[in-house]
Amino acid sequence: MEKYIGRVLISREDLGKRVAELGAEITRDYAGKKLLILGILKGAVPFMADLIREIKLPLAYDFMILSSYGDSTQSSGVVRILRDLESSVEDVHILIAEDIIDTGLTLKYLRENLRARNPLSVKVITLLDKAARRKADITPDYNGFSIPDEFVVGYGLDFNEKYRNLPYIGVLKQEAHEEEGP
Ligand code: IMP
Ligand code: MG
Repeated sequence: MEKYIGRVLISREDLGKRVAELGAEITRDYAGKKLLILGILKGAVPFMADLIREIKLPLAYDFMILSSYGDSTQSSGVVRILRDLESSVEDVHILIAEDIIDTGLTLKYLRENLRARNPLSVKVITLLDKAARRKADITPDYNGFSIPDEFVVGYGLDFNEKYRNLPYIGVLKQEAHEEEGP
């Protein structure tokens, strides 16, 4: 295992199983609807890439880049859009795909921003939900796993841009926060 990973919280196998279940749910819920999956870069990429292949429906996907003022592990709720959607969304059902909901401040801002563009609906799917830290009134419509208040990495989640490529979700050791590895 990686030097700075204390323990595996969710294995690759469990991620795969849960993502398949979520894909099946979405396939049922969005049958006959025009669906746009909106991935939030960069953390949602591995999750979204796996999820879309478990959704047995025609769909489109796009990405946004959001930047929250604050440090790398804490969001402030003041959000800037660094990359926006390519098209208007008035005729689509939007499903926002996130890696993790922590305070919920980023998503609350985004959901309101998107609703103002009058799509048919806006819902949220998150791989991980850290509900203990919630500050904004946000409940995901689909949630992969509820997790305790620990800093996790892997499967898209980073610490200072590292560990995104781990195929599992792991808990970062305290040492990693203290000393910056290569
Ligand atoms: P929030 O819900 O606005 O607080 O922000 C969520 C974002 O914070 C996520 O998209 C991640 O980029 C980051 N984040 C929150 N918790 C963690 C964690 O445990 N590991 C890695 N990134 C995290
Ligand atoms: Mg993120």
